Amino acid sequence: MTRHLTIVDHPLVQHKLSIMRDRTTSTASFRQLLREISHLLAYEVTRDLPMTTRTIETPMCEMEAPMIEGKKLALISILRAGNGLLDGILDLIPAARVGFVGLYRDEETLQPVQYYFKVPENLGDRLTIVVDPMLATGNSSAAAVDLLKQAGARDIIFLCLLAAPEGVERMRQAHPDVPVVTAALDEKLNERGYILPGLGDAGDRMFGTQ
Ligand code: URA
Repeated sequence: MTRHLTIVDHPLVQHKLSIMRDRTTSTASFRQLLREISHLLAYEVTRDLPMTTRTIETPMCEMEAPMIEGKKLALISILRAGNGLLDGILDLIPAARVGFVGLYRDEETLQPVQYYFKVPENLGDRLTIVVDPMLATGNSSAAAVDLLKQAGARDIIFLCLLAAPEGVERMRQAHPDVPVVTAALDEKLNERGYILPGLGDAGDRMFGTQ
């Protein structure tokens, strides 16, 4: 993946995202839609996985059949909202190793505070896909990628559902080597660091908390 920002503007993604944004959408529907969009985003984010072939026999004849080469993957969820994207991606890539980075946002300073870090071994050998639905200020995303690089990750993609221009710019400055893939690039942040028009607090919408 060479571009720093990829927007997955597929009609199915955009339609489902619009329903998720609607404040009247229920928790159950929100969760289901996020899972469905995760499948479509996983499709995009794995587009450049290296391929090989294997000799198989169809009922008709022998063929060299294309297969994913087996580059090791690590999916890293930024807690807690990252888990919504994680579940859908694991539907498609069940063998991926999974890690978690626990960061919460200090609502006063908007700076990330770490409370948990557990990731698979040999991150340096893996394509590391970091998932967090909301790229807002970019502070926690950049901090999470810092931690993953310290743990050895080298080949990293950041996958989100919504991005604010401020967050994309923050990531571009801090980690120009990390492509960002998102379903939409929204307008801006409000004074509390929420994305506008956005969808509200992704974790709260997903888990039914407030
Ligand atoms: N986190 C969220 O859940 N929503 C936002 O709009 C910004 C950060």
